[in-house]
Amino acid sequence: PRKLRVGLVGGGTVGGGIVTILEGARELQASLGVDVEIATICVRDKAKPRDFPLPAGCAVVDDVEEILGDGSIDLVCEVMGGTTLAKEVVMRSIADGKHVVTANKALIAAALPELQEKLAEANAKQVLGSEGKFGFEAAVCGGIPIIHALQRDFLGDEVSQLSGIINGCTNFILSNMAQGGLSYSDALKEASALGYAEAAPRRRRLATRHPPRHTSPPHAASPRLLADPTLDVGGFDARSKLKILIKLAFGTDVGERVGGRGTVKLLGVAKRDGGDPRAAPPLPSLTPPPLVFRRDGDRLSAFVSPCFVPTSNTLASISGATNAVQIGSANLGSTVLVGQGAGRLPTANSCVSDILDI
Ligand code: NDP
Ligand code: HSE
Repeated sequence: PRKLRVGLVGGGTVGGGIVTILEGARELQASLGVDVEIATICVRDKAKPRDFPLPAGCAVVDDVEEILGDGSIDLVCEVMGGTTLAKEVVMRSIADGKHVVTANKALIAAALPELQEKLAEANAKQVLGSEGKFGFEAAVCGGIPIIHALQRDFLGDEVSQLSGIINGCTNFILSNMAQGGLSYSDALKEASALGYAEAAPRRRRLATRHPPRHTSPPHAASPRLLADPTLDVGGFDARSKLKILIKLAFGTDVGERVGGRGTVKLLGVAKRDGGDPRAAPPLPSLTPPPLVFRRDGDRLSAFVSPCFVPTSNTLASISGATNAVQIGSANLGSTVLVGQGAGRLPTANSCVSDILDI
């Protein structure tokens, strides 16, 4: 079998899932003719106990240079999050001719064109002798294979509309308010406790009291990260994912600013002026597709917002933290992909499929 030495940057929710799946899939690897060895895992705190079994011989380090500077590593898998150190890890790995897999939607949304350019440049130099590859299937909707679908399966089709539920945390909040009778703040607390919320800097922990007014997302501006739903209820997480989908469907880059031309309009689900979504007029179904993107001739329009949809629409039945993406296209008509958009194994599964594909 061909040996593939992996440096894993991040050993948290997703990193632990990647190790668990790969270690449990030895027979599958043998049948594919590969032997994936997780050589090194880089974490912030080496002393912290891990909730997954460490592979035999795997080094746990707290300095990413031990992976970046290791010429025997074939593939770097970045699952630490953030857009500063993570970007350096990804850019340097690509430049050095390593294959790269990431689950980092904030990074992909902010820097996909730059990363693709770096990959093309590195491949032009033929650093590896064969093509370096870059996988980011986990970056949108965790376990749902939407990236591969748009990259491969709709190549001969013309996508005219994307709509769906691409943030599990807010869907959990709104469906628990609508169906479970929970208040906004109780539903939000429960979503955070269940691990659906993104990590965000402490200074932005205002989401439960204020509507989102930021003009740029608070992605990883500080190294002091903790579970905080601001990125979710402010709509930033959904906007990052939507930006990635628009780029894949149309090659168009949309801006991070709120409102105006060339941007994605953003309306979060954070409680506004004491407003309560349940107090809205009795429409058929309160379902929050926080993503809508439509093409009309040469014009593209995109927004992130909670919306009412008819009960006859598939999206009306998607509750809890489940995600769904509805793709409208010329040949296929309407296609809906539904599944787990977050969580250890679903998200890690997308990373593992990228690794095995490479
Ligand atoms: P976690 O917070 O669970 O794990 C992050 C890991 O990175 C931890 O092991 C942490 O170390 C390590 N880390 C953080 N900062 C540093 C640093 N400066 N140097 C070295 N190691 C560091 O995050 P997740 O696993 O949940 O998320 C990882 C990525 O996957 C993110 O980009 C996220 O957006 C994306 N993602 C996550 C999903 C999910 O459901 N969780 C779904 C889809 C995408 P330590 O353990 O010591 O603190
Ligand atoms: N916070 C994100 C969500 C996690 O709720 O969808 C997965 O991207």
